[in-house]
Amino acid sequence: MSIKTATLNGVATIEIARPEKKNALTVAMYEAMTAALHAAKADPAVRAVLITGQPGVFTSGNDIEDFMTRAPGQGSDAMDSPVFLFMRALLDCDKPVVAAVTGAAVGIGTTMLLHCDFVYVSDEARLAMPFVALGLVPEFGSSLVVPQLMGHRKAAEKLLLGDPFTPEQAVECGIANAVLPAAEVVNHARRVAERFNTLPPGAVREAKQLMRAPQHKMLLEVIATEGELFARRLRSPEAMEAFQAFFQKRKPDFSKF
Ligand code: COA
Repeated sequence: MSIKTATLNGVATIEIARPEKKNALTVAMYEAMTAALHAAKADPAVRAVLITGQPGVFTSGNDIEDFMTRAPGQGSDAMDSPVFLFMRALLDCDKPVVAAVTGAAVGIGTTMLLHCDFVYVSDEARLAMPFVALGLVPEFGSSLVVPQLMGHRKAAEKLLLGDPFTPEQAVECGIANAVLPAAEVVNHARRVAERFNTLPPGAVREAKQLMRAPQHKMLLEVIATEGELFARRLRSPEAMEAFQAFFQKRKPDFSKF
């Protein structure tokens, strides 16, 4: 199991721990994170959730081998896939979720930050959403939320070109709260999460719900549309070329498409 969970001092921690594969997320890891989020929601002793990675890497995103061999189906199958259920559990988490981005956050590693309440980034991290370069499309509401946060042109750099961006840029464009020295990012995020031990949980829950309610319906609609396209794209020749190129450690060749 490559997800470590622990609850301490009111904070349920979900630690992504597969450093040998740069914390790439497998089906089993999504399932473990979903279970941890449901358990945190149900446990009255938990006042906040902390999601973190390993020194130097938060997560390199979905396991690309899983993309090739265990792509979610389309339609309702896609909606029941482990990654979808994980993102749904994150969206439905009524307690504050704090992310400590300990290093590289690629693909869903950055997408999931859009749905956390607080994001603290190590000064050594790099973020990227290279979906298009992989023959894919943005996922889980990023085609809605990213342009809303930073405007179309800055969003186009990140979602169409897939340009990596620095922690400082993540703060500037509204994806993150603050940049911290690598050695301090987890403790800082934990201290923020622990502040909810002294706040009234009912008011926190309702305030979070109010902040998210206005665009909840639209977000779910966008997620469903993105999910359909994403599932179809996973089987596309463009995506296959990108995945094979990754494992063959070469640049993809899209000239024939
Ligand atoms: N899926 C599957 N395996 C992955 C992976 C992923 N998303 N990310 C990294 N790995 C594996 C590599 O294949 C490599 O395995 P190997 O040792 O068996 O060859 C190992 O993890 C180390 O990765 P490597 O690329 O050598 O590390 P790096 O420090 O040079 O680069 C990253 C780190 C995160 C920048 C780079 O691994 C990367 O870009 N990963 C893919 C990101 C991506 O496109 N994710 C999908 C988004 S939708």
